[in-house]
Amino acid sequence: MRIAVFAGDGIGPEVTAEAVRVLEALQIDGLELVEGDVGGAAYRKHGHPLPAATLEIARSSDAILFGAVGDFSLDHLERALRPEQAVLGLRKELGLFANLRPATVFKGLEDLSTLRPEVAGKIDLLIVRELNGDVYFGEKGTRTLEDGRRQGWDMMSYAEDEVRRIAHAGFKAAQGRSKKLCSVDKANVLETSQLWRDVVIEVSAEYPDVELTHMYVDNAAMQLVKNPGAFDVIVTGNLFGDILSDQASMCVGSIGLLASASLAEGSFGLYEPIHGSAPDIAGKGLANPMATILSAAMLLRHSFGLEAEAARIEAAVAAALADGIKGGDLGGSAGTKEIGDAVLARL
Ligand code: IPM
Ligand code: MG
Repeated sequence: MRIAVFAGDGIGPEVTAEAVRVLEALQIDGLELVEGDVGGAAYRKHGHPLPAATLEIARSSDAILFGAVGDFSLDHLERALRPEQAVLGLRKELGLFANLRPATVFKGLEDLSTLRPEVAGKIDLLIVRELNGDVYFGEKGTRTLEDGRRQGWDMMSYAEDEVRRIAHAGFKAAQGRSKKLCSVDKANVLETSQLWRDVVIEVSAEYPDVELTHMYVDNAAMQLVKNPGAFDVIVTGNLFGDILSDQASMCVGSIGLLASASLAEGSFGLYEPIHGSAPDIAGKGLANPMATILSAAMLLRHSFGLEAEAARIEAAVAAALADGIKGGDLGGSAGTKEIGDAVLARL
C-alpha cells in the first residue's frame, strides 16, 4: 500500500502534512508514503509542473494523496507549464476518469451556507464528474481569421465509450445511495450533450433499480440553489462538473471540509480537497486541513478497502467539529496544526 503524497502549492503542503500525520497515527501495516513535487513548486525546482520523476512515483504507487496546485505568479507561463497542468496531466496519464465530489452539510454547520439553513440542511449529494474528456482535453488553439481578428477555440467532444464508463460509475454510485441519478447536459444546444444523453439512456437499461432523470445544466445550476436537497447523485461531463461542483461546495458553505476522489478503472485513485491553493493564507498556518484529512479517509476506503480506518478518521473529524474546533473558513479561529492535533486526539 504505497501512497504518493503530492503536496503542491500554497496551502497544499500545510494541509497535506496534517493528513499525513493522521495516516501515520493509524499505524496501518504495510502503508508506505512517498513524496513528490507537483505544480508551481515542481516548476520552480525542476522546470515542469509534472516532472517525469513525479509521474514515475505516481505510476509505482497504489494511490495519490494530493494537496493543491495553483500559483498566480506563474500564470504568464505557456499553458503546458502552468501549475494546473500537474493535476490535468495526472488525470490524463493515469486514466483518472471518475471524479467523485460529495457535498454534504455537516450537522450543526447549516449556518455556514449562504442559503437559508432549512434549505442548506438538506444537502446530501454526490457529483460524479467525467474527468478525462470534454472541452478540457480536446484540441485547442488561437488563430487569426482572414479579416485579421484573433480567435480562440476549444474542441468539445465525447466518444460513446467515454460516456458509457462514467455513466456506469454514476449508476453504481446511485445504487450505493438512494438510487436516484440525475444526468446533467445541454442537449438542447450541443451535439456532444445529445450523444451523452442517448448513451446514458442506453446504459440505464442495465440499472433498472435506479431512477434516471435528465436536466439541462442551466436549470441544474438554478435547482442547486433553489432546492439542493432534491439531488442525490449527479452525473455530468468535465466542464459542467467543474462548475457545478464548485457551486455545490459553496451551497454547503464549508469548502474547507469537502474531499474528493478521482478514480481510474480498478482501485487506483487520486484524493484531494476540493479547495485550491489559497495563496492569500499560504504559509500562515491558518488553512483548515479537514478536507485533506477527509480525502485521506476516502483514499483508505476506495483504494485499499480499509472501511474501518476510513470511518475512524471521519468520526474523529466529526467529533472535533462537534467540540467546536473550527478553522477560519468555518468562522472559527483554530489553526492548521491545532485542527490536526484535535483530530489526532479524537482518532
Ligand atoms: C478542479 C479545478 C481544476 C479543473 C483546475 C485546477 C484545472 O478547478 O479540480 O475542479 O478545472 O478541473
Ligand atoms: Mg474546479
